[in-house]
Amino acid sequence: MKRISVVIACMLFLMSNVLLAQNKYVGAAKCKMCHMGKGKQYPIWSESKHAKAFETLKGEEAKKIAKEKGIADPSTDAKCLKCHATAGAVEATLNGGIKNEEGVSCESCHGAGDKYKSPIIMRNRDEAVKNGLLVPDEKTCVKCHNSESPTFKSFDYVTFYAKIAHKNPK
Ligand code: HEC
Ligand code: HEC
Ligand code: HEC
Ligand code: HEC
Repeated sequence: MKRISVVIACMLFLMSNVLLAQNKYVGAAKCKMCHMGKGKQYPIWSESKHAKAFETLKGEEAKKIAKEKGIADPSTDAKCLKCHATAGAVEATLNGGIKNEEGVSCESCHGAGDKYKSPIIMRNRDEAVKNGLLVPDEKTCVKCHNSESPTFKSFDYVTFYAKIAHKNPK
C-alpha cells in the first residue's frame, strides 16, 4: 500500500509539473521580503534542516554513502541533489534563478513561485492557487521522505510537520 501511494504521489507531482510548465522557480530570497514578519516563515525555514540539505551533501557521511554507490561527488550528482536541493529537481528551462545552495526551500513544497509571488496575487488565496501555489500535505513530503533515501528510517507526518511548522499566528 505504502509503495503504491508513493508511486501515485510521484505521478501527481510529475503531472502538476507538466500543467505548471511555464511557472519558474525563483528561489527563497524572493519570498523572504514578505514572509519575515507575521508567521516568520522565512526565518523558521532558514533555521530548519531543509535549508541545510545541500550542505549535508558535502559532509563526511554523505561522501561515505556516495562512495558505496559509486558516486564521486554527492553535491554535484543528480541522484542526491534531486531530494537535497529544490534546484536539483528543476529543469534548466524552469530555473528562474534558484541555486542548489538553498537546499530544500519554499518551492519544493509550495510550487514554483514566479507567477504567484506578485503582491496582488499573493493576497488572494484563490488567485495564488490558480497561479501555481500548492497547499502542501503529507503527499508532498513523501516525494522525498521515502525508502529511496539512503538514510530513511521512517516518516510520520504529524511529528515531522511539527518540527517545520510555520503557520501564521491565529
Ligand atoms: C510581495 C509579497 C509576497 C511575496 C514576494 C511572496 N508572498 Fe506569499 N503571501 C503574501 C501575502 C500578503 C500572503 C497572504 C497571507 C499572509 O499574510 O501570510 C501570502 C500568503 C502565502 C501563502 C499562504 C497561502 C494560503 O493561504 O494557504 C503561502 C504558502 C505563500 N504565501 C508562499 C510564498 C512563497 C513560497 C513565496 C516565494 C516564491 C511567496 N509566498 C512570496 C505575500 C508575499
Ligand atoms: C524535496 C525533498 C523534500 C520534501 C518535499 C520534504 N523534505 Fe523534509 N527533508 C528532506 C531532506 C533532504 C532532509 C534532510 C536534510 C538534512 O539533514 O540535510 C529533510 C529533513 C526533514 C526533517 C528533519 C528530520 C530530522 O532528523 O530532524 C523534517 C522534520 C522534515 N524533513 C519534514 C518534512 C515535512 C513535514 C515535509 C512535507 C510537508 C517535508 N519534510 C518535505 C527533503 C524533503
Ligand atoms: C518542507 C515543505 C515546506 C517548505 C520547505 C516550506 N513550507 Fe510553507 N507550508 C508547508 C506546509 C505543510 C504548510 C501548511 C499547509 C496547511 O495545512 O495549510 C505550509 C504553510 C505555509 C504558509 C501558510 C501559513 C498559514 O497560516 O496559512 C505560508 C505563508 C508558507 N507556508 C510560506 C512558506 C515560505 C515563505 C517558505 C520558504 C521560506 C516555506 N513556506 C517553506 C510546507 C512547507
Ligand atoms: C528520495 C529522496 C532522497 C534521495 C534520492 C537522497 N536523499 Fe539523503 N535524505 C533524504 C531525506 C528525506 C533525509 C532526512 C530523513 C531521512 O534520513 O530519511 C535525508 C538525509 C540525508 C543525510 C543526513 C542523515 C542524518 O543523519 O542527518 C545524508 C548524509 C544524506 N541524506 C545523504 C544522501 C546522499 C549522499 C544521497 C545520494 C547518494 C542522498 N542522500 C539521496 C532524502 C533523499
